[in-house]
Amino acid sequence: MSATPLVQIQGLQPRAVPAVSDGQLVDSFGRVMGDLRISVTDRCNFRCVYCMPEEGLQWLNRESLLTFDEIERLARLFVAQGVHEIRLTGGEPTLRPGLPDLVARLAKIPGITSLSLTTNGFMLKNLARPLAEAGLTRINVSLDTLDHERFHQITRRPWLKQVLEGLAELERYPSIRPIKINAVAMRHWSETEAVPLALLAREKGYIVRFIEFMPLDADGNWEHERVLTGREIKAILEREIMPLVPIPTEKSSTSRRYRFADGVGEIGFINPVSEPFCASCNRLRLTADGQLRTCLFSIDEWDLRTPLRSGITDEQLLELVRDAVWHKELKHKINEGEAFQRASRSMSQIGG
Ligand code: GTP
Ligand code: 5AD
Ligand code: SF4
Repeated sequence: MSATPLVQIQGLQPRAVPAVSDGQLVDSFGRVMGDLRISVTDRCNFRCVYCMPEEGLQWLNRESLLTFDEIERLARLFVAQGVHEIRLTGGEPTLRPGLPDLVARLAKIPGITSLSLTTNGFMLKNLARPLAEAGLTRINVSLDTLDHERFHQITRRPWLKQVLEGLAELERYPSIRPIKINAVAMRHWSETEAVPLALLAREKGYIVRFIEFMPLDADGNWEHERVLTGREIKAILEREIMPLVPIPTEKSSTSRRYRFADGVGEIGFINPVSEPFCASCNRLRLTADGQLRTCLFSIDEWDLRTPLRSGITDEQLLELVRDAVWHKELKHKINEGEAFQRASRSMSQIGG
């Protein structure tokens, strides 16, 4: 593979030979993996328009889901190779029976510095306490609007009240911090939601992040024109509330962080379309049926479930994982017109 100008701009140089086994997972561009996102189910109780179809998605059958034993074995293997952040995702991860038991098992793995969950929040009224007791350290709750009718329109479910109650319950458990809110931003829709959500950040101390709409919706309705950029939302917030001041952000972070000039309220912008952050990507994804994805937009996957169930040794498994990581995609091609190919699964089947 030869270096394109973009590669050079991003400071990434393709390497010819895999790195020797040094306790790290490194790709062919020198990116070191630190973050594993584990999807525990493809099912969801919401039907957000930017993610799922109203009906018709085929669910994975129970036998194809990785068991907690299999997930723990893989997590230990990745953590031994330098992965230090684990995030549980779905579909909606709280629908997986026994989720707190899985959290408790993962929380015992030495070397994990962050064990987090991305959820729609519906089940938190009942689950916040067991999750806190199990050792969850961080949480991201998806919430795109504070208006009941609009919530119903976007999620196709009338359950804003339950999500807000879930957030209130979460506040009782300070071991799960920070609480982040994820709001997907779409043009002609989210412009009016930005200020109320930013005020929520100021009132409650949640970190509110606006996410650019990506072409991962099952309905295939994504259009470039529907992307409301982080820059545009920032302009709305600065005009309506007050200036935002940048705060330092970790290199591998998805989000650019800001605080309001009076020091009250943190806002993040996740801009994968207008400002791709692939150059510093350190993320790997495991689907609920045990396929390793090296990019959100991967077209090919690496089957770990079949070898896991055929008695593969840890050494052989590690070799397979190293090979997969080495082939991690350089970047997504959302902005490259015809060259862009949709991912092999839609968002709820990957876990975001
Ligand atoms: P933090 O560690 O709390 O910052 O979490 P996160 O932003 O990595 O995870 P979260 O599940 O909250 O995802 C927020 C949004 O960022 C979702 O829309 C994800 O799909 C998107 N996202 C996460 N990782 C990537 C990535 O590697 N590439 C792209 N393009 N988007 C990503
Ligand atoms: N574009 C951007 N973000 C999305 N999410 C779901 N679908 C999309 C999309 N098409 C977000 C959810 C959740 C996270 C896992 O991904 O809101 O917060
Ligand atoms: Fe469910 Fe999350 Fe997709 Fe919404 S974004 S439909 S909550 S998986």
